[in-house]
Amino acid sequence: MKIIGTGSAHPKCAVTNQMLEQFLETTDEWITERTGIKERCVISSEKLEDMACEAAMKALENANLTPADIDFLICSNVVNEYVTPALSCIIQGKIGATCPTVDINAACAGFIYAMDIADDKLKAGKAKNILIVCAEEPSRMVSWKNRSTCVLFGDGAGAAVVTAGDELKAIRLTTSSLTEVLYYQRTLEPTPYISKEENFEPLVMRGREVFKHAVTNSNRDIKALLDQTGLTPADIKYYVLHQANRRIIDSIRNFLGVEEERVPHNVERYGNISSAALPALLDELNRAGKLQKGDKLVFSAFGAGFTTGACIIEWAM
Ligand code: UT7
Repeated sequence: MKIIGTGSAHPKCAVTNQMLEQFLETTDEWITERTGIKERCVISSEKLEDMACEAAMKALENANLTPADIDFLICSNVVNEYVTPALSCIIQGKIGATCPTVDINAACAGFIYAMDIADDKLKAGKAKNILIVCAEEPSRMVSWKNRSTCVLFGDGAGAAVVTAGDELKAIRLTTSSLTEVLYYQRTLEPTPYISKEENFEPLVMRGREVFKHAVTNSNRDIKALLDQTGLTPADIKYYVLHQANRRIIDSIRNFLGVEEERVPHNVERYGNISSAALPALLDELNRAGKLQKGDKLVFSAFGAGFTTGACIIEWAM
């Protein structure tokens, strides 16, 4: 598999830490020190599906393809306004593609899971060009009265087009069921027969535990991939990591012992945009001309589940 196009889109409403100070018992200093986040873009008048389509179209243009060239579309999404149809179906219709589509939910690790599924389809000869769109609105999962969670997240979309190639050097996925550390339940309709107790609440997160899992598991995944490929940390041009917290990113960088420039970040501008974070950051690097053909990149992400995904790719564009 190889990546031949990237795209991204962010909502226009940028919420700074100072804006949060107006209605939460928090400070810019606390948020900056503990997370590195200065602002996040959140959905206001936009629809998530429109941002997803914008990211998708940019990725297609970047790949010099049209929606008609896509044979399969995978959308990574945790929540959106529709339970059904899948967001991927909505995107397919809006961009004018005709291929089959599917949604996946591997939380913040969704982009790597989508890449793995795409790689299998390409290897099986079942598709030529696959569009991956990660579109997320975690701002709708948190309570905006809870300073421990709402300051961390933003909304956005990132996309990539992939096709057959030898550039995916290694990929690794893990799931360990730790449902109590990070979860969000959706409200279901009542029925005359429900007798169990139901107490739906906004996103619940045991932040410190997530932090530890994130650092430990990302380090483990990256080390496993480097061992598998015989590469050293110095062989990697950029470590494109999930953007959840600057301290998590720095801890992983310290473990790897690499320079700051090789671990790019935009969490300070967007907060945690779940599975969209990784392709959106990749798109930023791509459009800034920072990626050269042959560069080796590590991707690593972690999320609710607990899920993790990591891979090493060679840049092909
Ligand atoms: O994609 C995966 C999604 N989640 C993550 O990646 C989250 C991973 N975890 C984290 O990023 C960090 O654990 C947090 C940023 C969530 C929290 O940082 P921390 O250094 O682990 O702080 P803490 O949870 O230990 O809280 C320290 C204090 C608490 O007060 P007390 O109990 O010590 O009096 C919190 O109530 O900070 C308080 N606090 C805040 N204070 C001001 C929590 N949120 C805020 C806030 N402003 N926004």
